[in-house]
Amino acid sequence: MTVSPSPPETVAGQRPALKFAHPSEAEFARLLDFYGVRWQYEPRSFPLRYQDDGQLLEAFTPDFYLTDYDTYIELTTLRQSLITYKNRKLRMMRELHPDVTVKLINKRDYLKLLEKFGVEPRAGSAIPAIERILFTEREVQARVEELGRQITRDYTGRELVLIGVLRGVVPFMGDLMRRISLPVRVDYLSLSPYQPDDTPLRFTKALEEDISGAHVLVIEDIVDTGMSLHRLLQYLERRGPVSVEVCALLDKRARRLADVRIAYSGFEIGDEFVVGYGLDARQQYRNLPFIGVVHGEVR
Ligand code: IMP
Ligand code: MG
Repeated sequence: MTVSPSPPETVAGQRPALKFAHPSEAEFARLLDFYGVRWQYEPRSFPLRYQDDGQLLEAFTPDFYLTDYDTYIELTTLRQSLITYKNRKLRMMRELHPDVTVKLINKRDYLKLLEKFGVEPRAGSAIPAIERILFTEREVQARVEELGRQITRDYTGRELVLIGVLRGVVPFMGDLMRRISLPVRVDYLSLSPYQPDDTPLRFTKALEEDISGAHVLVIEDIVDTGMSLHRLLQYLERRGPVSVEVCALLDKRARRLADVRIAYSGFEIGDEFVVGYGLDARQQYRNLPFIGVVHGEVR
């Protein structure tokens, strides 16, 4: 099935001088490098349509391949007229190669992604209003209690270290750890935000506990693209734990790029921007006891 040869895999900070078809692809590659997500650019073409004589008529070459996640990414930040064409190709791709994971990022998704990683700040600085409540305080507390029970059951007799990812995890961590009826150690980590100018990622709060020989449970408020979690797991796995699992209060599966495994998930939610119970919009709303959806488009 492979048509084109693969370019060398990238190592973060050591990018070969690749020619991208579009600047948005270069930006996307920088984002992946920042989080240590390994990628290849257009490594493979998938045949879609043949002539009667067997000659290849049409093929699909996704822009990126995430080697750790066996996932192809197609960036469609082009004109609307091309999107219909691309969508058709993608449909054929899914029919003919159902075993291959391809994620499409259209222009709107891409702009949301850039904004999320702080590349293009939202126009204006108004704090968005809360549109509706997604999970009440009671629903959140009930689910946290269940998660605590499950974790207690699974980790009985093991040396457990809970590692919370700042800042949004604070209320969840506080409630969850009190529902875990086991001896545990607790630590926190914090990552510097993405910088589009090649500034490398830093841990603004590094790990202080020794986790070698211990079972680690990473506690997250929300997993969105999965890229920050990918980087965190990479960092933790180098420190010799027996196991590393993830517990996330919210799982925005529809937006996942790095398909990290989440062993304990509180709620799966759609592609909406949520606030409260630790989550912020422009640093507001973290102190709300419930989880709400903010009003309007992100852009
Ligand atoms: P990821 O690397 O894309 O998975 O980023 C996860 C981080 O993005 C979370 O820890 C949050 O800080 C932030 N985030 C993602 N979605 C939301 C949301 O709906 N509300 C608030 N913060 C969010
Ligand atoms: Mg976070």
